[in-house]
Amino acid sequence: MKNSILKEYNSRFKKAMVYVKSPGRANIIGEHTDYNHGLVLPFAIEQRIDLIIGQNKSGALRLFAKDLDEYVEWNANQLKFMDKGWSRYFINAMVALNLDLSVGVDVVFGGNLPQGGGVSSSSAITCGFIAGINFIFKLGLSDEEMIKLASQAENGIGLDGGIMDQTSIFKGVKGKALKIDFLDHTIEQYDMPTSEFSFYLLNSGQKHNLVETEYNQRRATCNKALKSLNKSNSTIHTFRDVSLDDIQTKLIDPIEQKRSIHIIQENERVKHVIGALRTKDYHKIGPLLLESHTSLSKLYEVSTQEIDYLVQRCQEESKILGSRIMGGGFGGCTICFTNGKLSKKEFNGIQKDYMIKTGLHLTILEISACQGIQCFPV
Ligand code: GLA
Repeated sequence: MKNSILKEYNSRFKKAMVYVKSPGRANIIGEHTDYNHGLVLPFAIEQRIDLIIGQNKSGALRLFAKDLDEYVEWNANQLKFMDKGWSRYFINAMVALNLDLSVGVDVVFGGNLPQGGGVSSSSAITCGFIAGINFIFKLGLSDEEMIKLASQAENGIGLDGGIMDQTSIFKGVKGKALKIDFLDHTIEQYDMPTSEFSFYLLNSGQKHNLVETEYNQRRATCNKALKSLNKSNSTIHTFRDVSLDDIQTKLIDPIEQKRSIHIIQENERVKHVIGALRTKDYHKIGPLLLESHTSLSKLYEVSTQEIDYLVQRCQEESKILGSRIMGGGFGGCTICFTNGKLSKKEFNGIQKDYMIKTGLHLTILEISACQGIQCFPV
């Protein structure tokens, strides 16, 4: 991928300075917990966005999307948050960075991450671009600072998102799942399961743009529930201080109750999966993924009928130990955990039944835990 993007860069612009490899992310378990001071267990994946970035003397932000064959150009010093088009990822990152530049920036990018598939393609672009700018202008920003800037840039498009995606993209480690605790922002690494076990992403073909979903509403409901809980017990500051009993006795609104139960139980499931990784009891992971899915579907209500069907259909395959909707939800991918590789025949069977049931084309990607963002001088 690098070579074709570099070739494109050299044919359009001068002075390539950095090559950035920016991975997507998958999440084993811990969904909608990041913005609720909770636990998550993601990893950076091999599928990624590649960017070549350099400087120009014209003061312009010149962007070329290789996969779309589209070029746009902006005045680098007169940028405002934008909410439409792919160039918003770069523009919003520049606005968040707030640099006083005497030069312009040129970018060519492309990749093999499915767009709108719940694997954080937009965060991979935003984080990769910020890391590249940090590199070429020697800004000396730490990963934590860049994670914050990327999140500000992405919130500029109207999504009140958490920072699981940006953190996994920057902090990914080959062969490791990352337990991120959003109460104290600590990260622990755990070995991924041994090679008899695999993770796959099944892309439902239901594209989602989280800004247009009820994602922000879920976050607002959780904040409201927490406020009510804190009113009745001032020692409650986050969902980590809340018991199931508190929810039943202190919350009146049934929707707030459902959302809160999901958060509390999902944090527990993350701990159980970590326990299984530690003791190598990998068979315990599948049922926990299924429980997580049921909770995301029935309590947090971020699944779709199509994805509920897919998760249920996958259970008919003996190699599949469990699967669940992954990421923000309302479409996108499921993450599927198997004992043994899925054969073409097995996948084709799922794909065919899914097509008959939903009219949608299912695709599959095998995934493994990879290194986070890397910058190389060109
Ligand atoms: C999206 C957001 C993340 C996280 C997940 C749900 O991917 O970007 O911050 O909230 O949804 O777990």
